[in-house]
Amino acid sequence: MSQSFYVTTPIYYVNDVPHIGHAYTTIAADVLARFYRLRGRRVFFLTGLDEHGQKVQQAAAKANIDPQTHCDRLMPAFKNLWEKLNISQDAFIRTTDKSHQAIVQRCLQALYDKDLIYQAEYTGWYCTFDERFWTEKDVENGQCPDCRRPVEQVSERNYFFRMSQYRQALIDHIKAHPAFIRPESRRNEVLGFLQKPLEDLSISRPKSRLSWGVELPFDRDCVTYVWFDALVNYLSALEYLAPQPEGPHFWPASLHLVGKDILTTHAVYWSTMLMGMERPLPESIFAHGWWTVEGEKMSKSRGNVVDPNAMVEQFGVDAFRYFLLREVPFGQDGDFSHAAFESRYNAELANDLGNLVSRSLTMLGNFANARVPAMDPKSQTDLDRELAQAASNLFEALDTHLRHLEFNRALETIWGLVQLANQYIDKTAPWTLAKDSAQESRLQTVLFHLAEVLRFLTLAVAPFMPHTAEAMRTRLGLTVTFHQPLLTTFPTWGDHRYTGETTKGTSLFPKNLPKPSTTQTTEPSAAFTTTSEKSVKEQKAQSNPSDGGATSSTAELIGIDEFMKVQLKVAKILQAERVPKSDKLLKLQVDVGTEHRQIVAGIGKKYAPEELLGRTIVVVANLKPAKLMGIESQGMVLAAGDKDVVSLLFLPDDALPGTKVK
Ligand code: MSP
Repeated sequence: MSQSFYVTTPIYYVNDVPHIGHAYTTIAADVLARFYRLRGRRVFFLTGLDEHGQKVQQAAAKANIDPQTHCDRLMPAFKNLWEKLNISQDAFIRTTDKSHQAIVQRCLQALYDKDLIYQAEYTGWYCTFDERFWTEKDVENGQCPDCRRPVEQVSERNYFFRMSQYRQALIDHIKAHPAFIRPESRRNEVLGFLQKPLEDLSISRPKSRLSWGVELPFDRDCVTYVWFDALVNYLSALEYLAPQPEGPHFWPASLHLVGKDILTTHAVYWSTMLMGMERPLPESIFAHGWWTVEGEKMSKSRGNVVDPNAMVEQFGVDAFRYFLLREVPFGQDGDFSHAAFESRYNAELANDLGNLVSRSLTMLGNFANARVPAMDPKSQTDLDRELAQAASNLFEALDTHLRHLEFNRALETIWGLVQLANQYIDKTAPWTLAKDSAQESRLQTVLFHLAEVLRFLTLAVAPFMPHTAEAMRTRLGLTVTFHQPLLTTFPTWGDHRYTGETTKGTSLFPKNLPKPSTTQTTEPSAAFTTTSEKSVKEQKAQSNPSDGGATSSTAELIGIDEFMKVQLKVAKILQAERVPKSDKLLKLQVDVGTEHRQIVAGIGKKYAPEELLGRTIVVVANLKPAKLMGIESQGMVLAAGDKDVVSLLFLPDDALPGTKVK
């Protein structure tokens, strides 16, 4: 393992304020940066802004200001958010920095001098409205695939980077370095992309069309294509934002974190650019998945953009960081739902961790004078040894999970120990031991073990939940600080160092949270700007009644009489159509034997309306009517699937509508 760790996030376009997608990558990078600092590695963590290009120019034009003013105005929205989210970046780059621009020009000149950049005529289909070219295969019926306006054939003199010549070298590199592109499915995707001939890359735009960019050093009438400018940030920052003189030695980067949509630009454009510049390729590029919100694509026009600021205000920064990394395996798409957030908050943060900390500290206060007592080896039991063993295994597992970017599994492992510690309290029952003076030494041993497990947990959660870890540290009276490389070697059970008094403090994760703002707005300012929250929950239940919006960890057992209250019936689908403006909802007319009912179900991603006609399904017949996107739904359909619907419950066609399902 290399001693240095250089991790980057994409640099974000300043065409709008940051949202959950930006927060996601940046938090993930932060966790790694914090973890490897604790592990004693020399870390450089870079994030920043992509300030050039069409999108930014357009956003500035819309606001009627010049692009630089626009960038300067929007920049604090990102910087302030990173502060609020406890992001510990070592540098924040802006592509309008003079030093960055000079380095981009130097790279361009070097490639031009080596004849790796040439000028040529480019002909393509141009959409004036979107101000972009489309290839022959993109254009449908002479229309722009994006805005559906007519496109015209335009020829333009542009500069091209000889990307095509690196195709085989790149394939060879990917094959020889299994960790270069992760996860594996994305690696295969890039290899698939490289099966086709690779074209040269147009790296310039005439100023007549786009003026907001880095001027080409060899042609003042052109600016650099925004991606060529942006990708160079990973190198340029090392020259003027990293500590010198070691800055440039951070190259090659250990890890570029990117969203799946910008994998090709990183894996192909950036890699071949580096080959042209004769620089080593990054060790790894990891593409994570995308978030939907309450099952819908997140977009401004839908008004469901999740504002991280509002989430932090409502739940606290650590709950937000925890949820994002716990809910979905990094690399896969995931859904951000309020029900799932609340459920994890209540079960895993307030109940599991919050309770453990509060019970343990209360007992240390009540039964040990707020001091961590010494343990008496003679009074040790298997329960203590089991706890100590589990804690001692924790960091090895964490290290492995984080090497593979399995944030969710890392947190799962930590929470395994949290749960074990809670069980330890239940089984050892210190409050009973406290009633019997003959058990004094056993009581002190139990309290010692509790303090130790809290110490281990404090260190383990530190990269994920810095505020929580700090609160646990001070309450436990630990003398160490997180600026020290505390995990260079993994902690040893019993090797505690405490200053003195432990303190109980207030609840780490208070239960009575303020209600979220759910008003529909086009500005991404409310935590959840969806259709009414109630309808969304109901919609979730519609598509998947099996989870009812709660995770299994909180699900309670129900009696047969409660179950019998639910009337399940056979129904036949008579009509089906899509609900306008929703890619998820279908409006069904069903025959339930005694009557016809209208049911709105979240199954539109899985089924086209026409394939459902005449099918026999199971419905909940005695559900109170609810409105989904303003449409009344009189019942719900049964379907299998955790988040996404995998299948409706179909019955043979001869099952009679109205028949009970038991
Ligand atoms: N400026 C380029 C990156 C240049 S890097 C040299 C860019 N910027 S962006 O602001 O449009 O997107 C930044 C990141 O946000 C991308 O990694 C993208 O995948 C991510 N996300 C945007 N929407 C997202 C979700 N809904 N969910 C998760 N991430 C998403 O692209």
